[in-house]
Amino acid sequence: MFYPVYRARRIRGKEVFRNMVRETSISANDLIYPMFSAFGKGIKKEISSMPGIYQQSIENIVEEAQEAYELGVPAVILFGIPEQKDAMGSDAYSETGIIQETIRAIKKSVPKLAVITDVCMCEYTDHGHCGVIKNGDVDNDETLELLAREALSHAQAGADMVAPSDMMDGRVAAIRESLDNNGFNHIPLMSYAVKYASGYYGPFREAAESTPQFGDRRSYQMDPGNRLEAIREARMDVEEGADILMVKPGLPYLDIVREVRNEFNLPTAVYNVSGEYSMVKAAAKMGWIDEDRVIMETMMSFKRAGADLILTYHSKEVAKLLRKGYEAELNGRCGCGCR
Ligand code: PBG
Ligand code: ZN
Repeated sequence: MFYPVYRARRIRGKEVFRNMVRETSISANDLIYPMFSAFGKGIKKEISSMPGIYQQSIENIVEEAQEAYELGVPAVILFGIPEQKDAMGSDAYSETGIIQETIRAIKKSVPKLAVITDVCMCEYTDHGHCGVIKNGDVDNDETLELLAREALSHAQAGADMVAPSDMMDGRVAAIRESLDNNGFNHIPLMSYAVKYASGYYGPFREAAESTPQFGDRRSYQMDPGNRLEAIREARMDVEEGADILMVKPGLPYLDIVREVRNEFNLPTAVYNVSGEYSMVKAAAKMGWIDEDRVIMETMMSFKRAGADLILTYHSKEVAKLLRKGYEAELNGRCGCGCR
């Protein structure tokens, strides 16, 4: 391919050709929208570092879930802010816990919307860690029992899929077994298989009120410098029965997304986390970037890196832009969100 025989610009010259040869596409079907369910009534409190994202009580979350569904977003993932927290995170596996009540309410009003639940202890423990504390650290094997109970109780409340995010060893097998032994062998498990100890979770901890009260999560979440370990983590989860593998955070770990996609023959998800969202919102507010264009380019980067699914706070915006793009294309204008 030498100039002047080959001219790379020839195929870029018209919008119709660019659309024809684009290698990557985004669909609303790829999106999973994270939502925060807070105990109480009449609550709709914006997260200060995440404009457009709210802690909200059940009646409001149902309303927004309906809106997301109508925009074409097929699934939500739920996080809970319980009435009370304790050392064992008991709201997490209570039949009347915040998430259990939220699942029932959403499934009743928007039955076709897939409800995925985050399975972890940090939103429910008073110390804010992702499991049971013993000798100043999270105890792996005792935590497994609680996670298995939590996932089962989500399934019993009507969850369509469970997604453990705790990073304990053996949790996929423990949850799979508990679901299978209780009549839920049809419920898929999306594993936060490769989850790094990341500064990008900062805004989420405000949203979920889940900041650790002492220490940090480095004894269970992965070290940002490790690539080979990501493969080991993912392999464990594949062997324990995960149906979908997730990499988290997204943008700073696109190399890992590609690595996991190439190595395993399972659907791959990526979590475009809170800090990534906040950075886009902040820069857009300052007028430093074209927000719509940056959002769509970011989504494209996940798909290009090999992700099949994207968990993103931008889900509703992306669904809207995809529709707008489609309409624009019918009228002969560019459909990708760019100008
Ligand atoms: C809970 C959990 C976290 C996120 C998803 N599930 C926070 C953490 O591990 O501290 C982060 C999501 C985000 O930042 O958007 N374990
Ligand atoms: Zn956690």
